[in-house]
Amino acid sequence: MCGIVGYIGKKDTTKFLLDGLKELEYRGYDSAGIALLNQNKIEVFKALGKLSNLENKISQVTIDSYPIGIGHTRWATHGKPTELNAHPHLGEYSYVVHNGIIENYKELKEELSSKGHNFVSQTDTEVIVHLFENYYNSLNDTKKAFENTIKRLEGAFSILLISKADPEKIFFFKHGSPLIIAKGNEENEVLFASSDAPLIGFTQSVVYLEDGVGGIASAQGIEFLSDNYSWSNLPTSKQFAQKDGFRFFMEKEIYEQGTVVSDCMLGRLKDEGICFDEIEPSLFDGVREIKICACGTSYHAGLTASYLLERLAKIKCSVEIASEFRYKQPLLTNDTLFIVISQSGETADTLEALKMAKKAGLKSLVICNVDNSSMTRTADYTILTRAGIEKGVASTKAFSTQTVVLWMLALYIGKLNSHLQKEDLDKEILALREVPKTLIVSDRIHEKTRRLSKRYLHGHGFFFIGRDVFFPLALEGALKLKEISYLHAEGYPAGEMKHGPIALADPELFTIALMPQNLLYDKIKSNVEELSARDSTICAISPLDFELADDFIKLQKTDHYMLEFFEMLVVLQLLSMEISIRLGNDVDMPRNLAKSVTVE
Ligand code: F6R
Repeated sequence: MCGIVGYIGKKDTTKFLLDGLKELEYRGYDSAGIALLNQNKIEVFKALGKLSNLENKISQVTIDSYPIGIGHTRWATHGKPTELNAHPHLGEYSYVVHNGIIENYKELKEELSSKGHNFVSQTDTEVIVHLFENYYNSLNDTKKAFENTIKRLEGAFSILLISKADPEKIFFFKHGSPLIIAKGNEENEVLFASSDAPLIGFTQSVVYLEDGVGGIASAQGIEFLSDNYSWSNLPTSKQFAQKDGFRFFMEKEIYEQGTVVSDCMLGRLKDEGICFDEIEPSLFDGVREIKICACGTSYHAGLTASYLLERLAKIKCSVEIASEFRYKQPLLTNDTLFIVISQSGETADTLEALKMAKKAGLKSLVICNVDNSSMTRTADYTILTRAGIEKGVASTKAFSTQTVVLWMLALYIGKLNSHLQKEDLDKEILALREVPKTLIVSDRIHEKTRRLSKRYLHGHGFFFIGRDVFFPLALEGALKLKEISYLHAEGYPAGEMKHGPIALADPELFTIALMPQNLLYDKIKSNVEELSARDSTICAISPLDFELADDFIKLQKTDHYMLEFFEMLVVLQLLSMEISIRLGNDVDMPRNLAKSVTVE
């Protein structure tokens, strides 16, 4: 998501920061900024949109020499993408850049405002710099002020802070989001970045900071505030660094899902329920029905949500493929909330469906990964999925974050309309908290899918089958395989196989059976038995042993079907990817496909 860079040394600080931010561009951002510090003054530059806008702004002025600087690319979470909301954020005499979300920023802002601090942005970040100055004003000690500041923050916060009160230093802390500190190749040089890429070529020696580790850096050296850190070597290839060492962006994005889903839940998932700052309860006044519209993978997230919304929130929900919806002359009534789901926010069919719904006077909400996209500008309300930029054409982390947002939305509505009992809500929240852990890719599972993949490179087709929410998951598994392996695959509701498709069953028909323990296990089991009896080759994915399976991928035992859902999702994504790799295909850029489909 957001990017951080920092520099102390004799090089051209502005150039180092801008070049570093360019290396982080691929993560996505909607504004950028840098702050430069010398003994006499701090200078700051910010711009909306592309980094070239920031470069243009800077090129129009003459800049003094600054031995210290910090920079940031922002992907909006709290507050719209505006220049005022862009980092670095100013107090009176200090600046901060921050990745993550300060969960208790509202309380802190109130406290600091009552003490006379003026806030100019809508961001959570601004409280950090005011808190620091508040402590410094009374303690007259920057180190103590920084330590006290850190102690008060809740949530995720990787930060760099500079201050005229101590103009030779950068204060740093890592909690939640990644942050690296490096000794530069030049003497007395210290570098910072939120990932490897900006540092390559400038250092050999880095510390990948652990959560809870921070310190103070200056040309004289680095002081860590705790001793749990260790120096390591940096990779030398930029491509490798952008992919964080993975072979493909898709692989990196599969592995990132645990982290981005945590980002997605941050500040929204509370013990007592779900909190979405970006919507108001009144959005649901008079709403008796929800209609979801989307394409491709996003449609599958929508279909999953329809089960959750009806089951948990007891609200009628229908889901439509946007390209179909547009021309069917749909009946739209004002008691319907229209929800569109889109990773890019630019898909032409979905955007058009949204415009139709708006024209018909429906309230609208978009669940989207890109703020300031056409859909977020069109819909009445937006919930961002916070997945960070997705580079692989085959969508992975976008789907997991969309599904988590929709699950949270079902709980939000269920509580609002009092259809969800406290006990059930508590159970769902407990399960949601487990999702990031469930999405962590284990070596065992990855190795298993890698080994199995060699047996699935031929045949006359794949059927992915499941029931309930595992039906949309089956559709998603089949879509992933089609997209990157070019093998024919279909997702099907398991109970529907006997109404026709079972005629295809033979040993060359591969069935990928999604068999959760916690939802309709006996039903899916008998569906798979029917296929096995017709000699179909079965790959079962389940926490329960299944003796008729030709291949078996064993899941962990959990007590919630949605945790099984997310664990299976990872298995399906990995299996497709490993098959595609064995077939020698371009995993990240499969033939005939584009990342964003902005034409009909
Ligand atoms: C599949 C995939 C596509 C998109 C679809 C909608 O891996 O990426 O099916 O899901 O084109 O795109 P968005 O979500 O951007 O509207």
